[in-house]
Amino acid sequence: MAIIQFPKDFRWGAATASYQIEGATNEDGRGLSIWDTFSKTPGKVHNGDTGDVACDSYHRYEEDVDLIHDLGADVYRFSVAWPRIFPNGTGEVNQKGVDYYHKLVDYMLEKGIEPMCTLYHWDLPQALQDKGGWDNRDTIEAFVQYADFMFKEFHGKIKKWITVNEPWCSSFLSNYIGVHAPGNQNLQLAMDIAHHLLVAHGRAVKSFRESKIEGEIGYAPNVTWFEPYSTKEQDIEACNRGNAWNLEWFFDPVFKGTYPDFMLEWFKEKGAVPTVLDGDLEIISQPIDFLGINYYTGNVGRYKENEGLFDLENIDIGYDKTAIDWFIYPEGFYKVLVTIKDLYSSVPIYITENGACYNEEPVNGVVSDQKRIDYLRTHLTALKRSMDSGVNVKGFLYWSLMDNFEWALGYSMRFGIVHVNYETLERTKKDSYHWFSETIKKGEFIV
Ligand code: BGC
Repeated sequence: MAIIQFPKDFRWGAATASYQIEGATNEDGRGLSIWDTFSKTPGKVHNGDTGDVACDSYHRYEEDVDLIHDLGADVYRFSVAWPRIFPNGTGEVNQKGVDYYHKLVDYMLEKGIEPMCTLYHWDLPQALQDKGGWDNRDTIEAFVQYADFMFKEFHGKIKKWITVNEPWCSSFLSNYIGVHAPGNQNLQLAMDIAHHLLVAHGRAVKSFRESKIEGEIGYAPNVTWFEPYSTKEQDIEACNRGNAWNLEWFFDPVFKGTYPDFMLEWFKEKGAVPTVLDGDLEIISQPIDFLGINYYTGNVGRYKENEGLFDLENIDIGYDKTAIDWFIYPEGFYKVLVTIKDLYSSVPIYITENGACYNEEPVNGVVSDQKRIDYLRTHLTALKRSMDSGVNVKGFLYWSLMDNFEWALGYSMRFGIVHVNYETLERTKKDSYHWFSETIKKGEFIV
């Protein structure tokens, strides 16, 4: 038996994103986003689900903030729907959209909860997509105007800002693998989009500094971990490439102002090179105040010629999986965090997402999700071990506060510690909510 204990000033919270929870997509002047278009394109989203209603948090935000409050958490990570603020992506501001976020943030502050605001969690205004989306450098300008507006408008209220969420997903997953909006399948396009997202991040950080806004700013890349199947050189190299696609590719530019050479060479052989303009890397490498880390899963990987982009295949060596078919691999969480410290800096880290998908339904008002508790327990244990190894982790935010629109998988996959009945929109606290709440209140748990 051991006690896993977190520091007294450790921050606890939960996370959501606008398109996944808000609904009200046609209300109060909101413009369309690429996810409205994508989810309404037949065959793109499981069951034809859309975010039109989602969890209806646009109307039930007080109830949702109360859930954070009752949990005993003191940070709520939410995202702003860019098309609610600028329905056309740029130009005229939609005051009603702005008012909504004031109400939401004011209510958080009233409840003693610190807002952590993500500016871009994938709901790009469709009007910008129509002009080329993130492939067009004008979108970077539009993002900076939007970010700048938000910084000034919410100055003094929001003090933790995240520029972009998981740029790997909004570039490669959405434009090379093609399963997320806008659904392209083109490596060169995805690579340029990844680069533009990083430039947009850097430009927003620069503008934040120039406005002398009080607070902290960072970004939230997703990371994973490939463990080599054997000590063979080829297996190790293939896993290095797999890891670097998420890690070095999205971290080196920010922390070192370069792209990793071994990946540049690899991608070049595949016919793709990022289109980098003079000054871009300098902009991208603006110092940040904190790093958000999103971690869910890891894999055992083995070299296999012509397998995927990196000659890398996933090997099933019998680890359990969550309901979304992702391996449960807490050791990868530990390893990736220690690697980040070793490769980059000891910049403060918030775990901005970590969580498990299981689809238990309420029985007599109780949702028994022991597996989610087990996932949380093992991942928090790995996290604490990384902190004991010198990783500078300041807080942990569970993904997600509540079940929600799980992108291409629609409503079929549930990550929440709060169950949402999508017919009645009733919220039910799961067993994991109660376990997490106890852990937060005590700052420790027993394993
Ligand atoms: C995203 C969330 C998503 C979660 C589970 C992350 O990639 O930021 O929006 O719901 O993972 O797939």
